Amino acid sequence: MTLEEKLGQLTMFPGASGQTGPAVPPAADSAVRAGAIGSFLSIWSVRDTRRLQGLALQSRLKIPLVFAYDVIHGWRTVFPVPLGMAATFDSAGTAQAARIAAVEAAAAGVHWTFAPMVDIARDPRWGRIVEGAGEDPYLGSVLAAAQVVGFQGDRGQLAGAAPPPTDVLLATPKHFAGYGFAEGGRDYNTVELTERTLWDVVMPPFEAAIRAGAATIMASFNEIGGTPAHASRWLLQDVLRDRWRFGGLVVSDWTGVAELIPHGLGDSATVAGRAIRAGVDVEMSSTLYRSTLAAEIRAGRVPIAAVDSAVVRLLRAKHALGLFDDPYRYSDSTRERRVLLTAEHRRAAREIARRAIVLLENRATGGAPTLPLRKALRTVAVIGPLADDPKSALGNWWGAGKPEDVVSPLAGLRRALPNARITHVRGAPADTTDTTGFAAARAAARDAEAVVLVLGERQDMSAEASSRASIELPGAQLALARAVLQAARASSPAKPVVTVLLNGRPLAVPWLADSMPALVESWFLGVEHGNALADVLLGDADPGGRLPVTVPRATGQVPIYYNHKLTGRPANANNHYTSKYIDLPWTPLYPFGFGRSYATFAYSDLRVPATGRTADSLVVSVTVANTSSRAGDEVVQLYVRDDAGSVTRPVRELKGFQRVTLGAGERRTVRFTLKPEHLAFTALDMRRVVEPGAFTVWAGGSSAATLEGRFRLSGDTVVVAPAPPPYR
Ligand code: BGC
Repeated sequence: MTLEEKLGQLTMFPGASGQTGPAVPPAADSAVRAGAIGSFLSIWSVRDTRRLQGLALQSRLKIPLVFAYDVIHGWRTVFPVPLGMAATFDSAGTAQAARIAAVEAAAAGVHWTFAPMVDIARDPRWGRIVEGAGEDPYLGSVLAAAQVVGFQGDRGQLAGAAPPPTDVLLATPKHFAGYGFAEGGRDYNTVELTERTLWDVVMPPFEAAIRAGAATIMASFNEIGGTPAHASRWLLQDVLRDRWRFGGLVVSDWTGVAELIPHGLGDSATVAGRAIRAGVDVEMSSTLYRSTLAAEIRAGRVPIAAVDSAVVRLLRAKHALGLFDDPYRYSDSTRERRVLLTAEHRRAAREIARRAIVLLENRATGGAPTLPLRKALRTVAVIGPLADDPKSALGNWWGAGKPEDVVSPLAGLRRALPNARITHVRGAPADTTDTTGFAAARAAARDAEAVVLVLGERQDMSAEASSRASIELPGAQLALARAVLQAARASSPAKPVVTVLLNGRPLAVPWLADSMPALVESWFLGVEHGNALADVLLGDADPGGRLPVTVPRATGQVPIYYNHKLTGRPANANNHYTSKYIDLPWTPLYPFGFGRSYATFAYSDLRVPATGRTADSLVVSVTVANTSSRAGDEVVQLYVRDDAGSVTRPVRELKGFQRVTLGAGERRTVRFTLKPEHLAFTALDMRRVVEPGAFTVWAGGSSAATLEGRFRLSGDTVVVAPAPPPYR
């Protein structure tokens, strides 16, 4: 290969957006023929990918192209957004959704997805909180690994099966690392992180994804300790390759190499040299490698070995995909017709969407719980700007999803109640103070037997570049909710009124929480949103989803997360000089892990061995009983605190969960194994250790669980992992 051909391989070119989907930019054809492009992002379709492969075969070396796309929460069958998926607390369902997405997208010619996003986020102002699993590193790690396995099949499939499968995607945990800690929740902002938080909170999901076999990884836009990730040899070499033995491909984020210039690291040639030497293999969207590195190498400022090893890694990935044998093997319109949005995929989407729904409130109306609603209802008023907004239900990365495939909340209720008269009034826009629709909303609420308000954020109010300074309900929606509740109550105190939220971040909605008879969190659930919602509202499915993030009472509490440190002055209502606000409680509106079911559950019999050795695994068990007369879902959660350590430890940390379905009156004993790696943390000398001493455990249905046990570990401090390489 000539140097120019090598640099061409390392260049990933973006598709343009056309009228009906992605389009091939005009300059692409000749560049592909010249061997100046190694991969594309955001181009898919059997037609375009085949045509471009044909052009690649006309280049001197005939190296096939690889096509990447953000296949995040589905392809044509769109599943819940990742934050909603995390609310399922279901790793099998999460893997299944990724598997289906891979099967569908691969048929359209996509080889590589930029997922899973595994950034831990403690700040809901950050719009990209919707793309990840929330605030907890343990849940985040479990779901990161599940998605990698779902996208790639098992590790063996990508590494050497002959012939390799045609329905797997290279997975890309992103954004490596720390992007979720953008200051002020403002996207792309700078990040301040201590090394200990980096290792205890940010890194575990990345490590889990890599252990699960992720073939590639994406660098993050932010800096860490003064070095942007795209220029950090420490991150991309010392940590990723030397510590974690990652042998796969590193891709830049969109123009991440060129953005080293505004970061302040120098001119084009300098930053391209820093990125390739740091270990960014493929440059996405900017083209500084191609335009500057040949001269840098010839001048001896950049070693050719850096380019060569990047090219080898890319060619290996193409080889693993079988593209040297047949560059067209993914792009298959017959397969595409067979696999897209099949009845089976829709069924899975509905089941998973149901499992993501979180019931936040369910007060009594007319002497009975407000939900589930009676199926015999003759009239229902469905009110709110998001009730019939299929685009919002699709979420933020809809792939090949189409609004016309979506069952909106309104459509779902209409299907489920074919004999009822369902009126629909928007009432107010999602984001302005226009109240002209209030009168119609009040009238509809007055005239119907039940009211379902569908409020929240449109899908474009979260995700990339969509941070909000306020996480309250936008526009006039709160006023609409008050007006509707008042009108409903005035006509009949026994009228059920339910608010369903759609959103990509936790919303601070204290009035809804205090005043709404029922409050349901439904995120953006994908193509089956409305069916899944109707299943839950009418009691055909139990709302077993739980919150993967803490819900604040107000934006001013942010960051607020359950696994915080205590400080020397933990909040105490009876002591003024403790860590509180004078204008707001210090507690959240809803804690991490919280959610109600239609069933009720009781926990007992928490069994913890009283003592153990630091090197041992401990088995903890707890009995959960369904104390109601209906079947229901519960997420049994296990939390641990290291009561005293050589460094301060969080108040509690999730270390196990299991979602169970229990029939009326059924009891089950759930077991968890606490291994040393669950109890380990980054000590003063930066080694990951388990220290002897006292621990507290809690088991229950949320991070506020109160059933408590204790154990004591004796023995020497056990080193689970050596200190990370020193920062440079
Ligand atoms: C985002 C990435 C995404 C990439 C390609 C970037 O702006 O940060 O998450 O994978 O674009 O679409």
